[in-house]
Amino acid sequence: MDDFILGLPKCELHVHLEGTLEPAMARAFAARHGIAGGADLGERPATFSGLSGFLTGYYAAMQGLQTEENFYELARAYLETARRQGVVYAEMFFDPQAHTARGVPFDTVVSGIHRAQEDVREDGGPDTALVMCFLRDESAESAAETLVASLPYRARGWILGVGLDSDERGHPPAKFAAVFADARAAGYRLTMHCDVRQEDSVAHIWQCLDLIGVERIDHGLECLADTALVEELARRRIGLTACPLSNLRLYGTLMADAVTELAARGVLVTLNSDDPAYFGGYVADNFEAVRDEAGLSRGDVARLAKHAFEASWLTGERTRAYLSAVDDYVAAAAPSGPG
Ligand code: ADE
Ligand code: ZN
Repeated sequence: MDDFILGLPKCELHVHLEGTLEPAMARAFAARHGIAGGADLGERPATFSGLSGFLTGYYAAMQGLQTEENFYELARAYLETARRQGVVYAEMFFDPQAHTARGVPFDTVVSGIHRAQEDVREDGGPDTALVMCFLRDESAESAAETLVASLPYRARGWILGVGLDSDERGHPPAKFAAVFADARAAGYRLTMHCDVRQEDSVAHIWQCLDLIGVERIDHGLECLADTALVEELARRRIGLTACPLSNLRLYGTLMADAVTELAARGVLVTLNSDDPAYFGGYVADNFEAVRDEAGLSRGDVARLAKHAFEASWLTGERTRAYLSAVDDYVAAAAPSGPG
């Protein structure tokens, strides 16, 4: 791993905690709870047949996540890896409906994750916030019920924002317009997935902007098919959370060119890991893969890192402090050798 990338202060905005469930942990939890066939839950193919193919294994592996302690261990393991990868701040997704549908109480999920966030914050970081995703292939009514269940945790400041994930085909942002309006009224920040290589992706991104009023879009790289859309994303300073190794494992390409083109056109594009236990790398690995493929300079790499702090939901003051930390790091870094 490149020392410059590893030490660069980084912010991760697109990581699904359930997607950080490494095979050994999935197997251990399944064994602990006596789940038949649990050993298979750790199996991870090298490539997936698109988003829906990936999601089947992703939901199956979650069966072992049952107790507050399981969610604690899951979140704590991710955060310790993220710290080693130079992450200083992360806004992390979780999928409550994937657990409540199996009879795991909402409180079990959120309490375990929250305790890990607190312990790691006291232990040297990273600092983190939580973003609750609705499953778009479930009904809008189910999302609305989940929103209501979350409100006590919103009131305590435990959940910062809401997102939308899972299988996009046939489930446009518009399906959730009312739920997201209610979430905004409850004080939540808003983001939504518009995965790469999906049907009607450009229309979905426009819906995110004009109908939902999101502040970020997860993935969103297909905006390049529409010049006016790219200009609008740049004008509104909407963050796009690209996930290169996810693109590689699902669709055979990092889409590094799309990342560099969007940055050149003034879009706040960022690099993230998505589901690192499935896609073969955490956030620094994603930076390194794009750096290698696109031949990025240290300045280019630092600019992508700064985009994530700018697209984060930190206060202006904390954002500025992290941006200065990146500048100081770059200024202090030893000069890179030839090549
Ligand atoms: N759930 C976990 N990872 C996802 C992704 N990349 N897209 C949609 N839903 C997801
Ligand atoms: Zn995702």
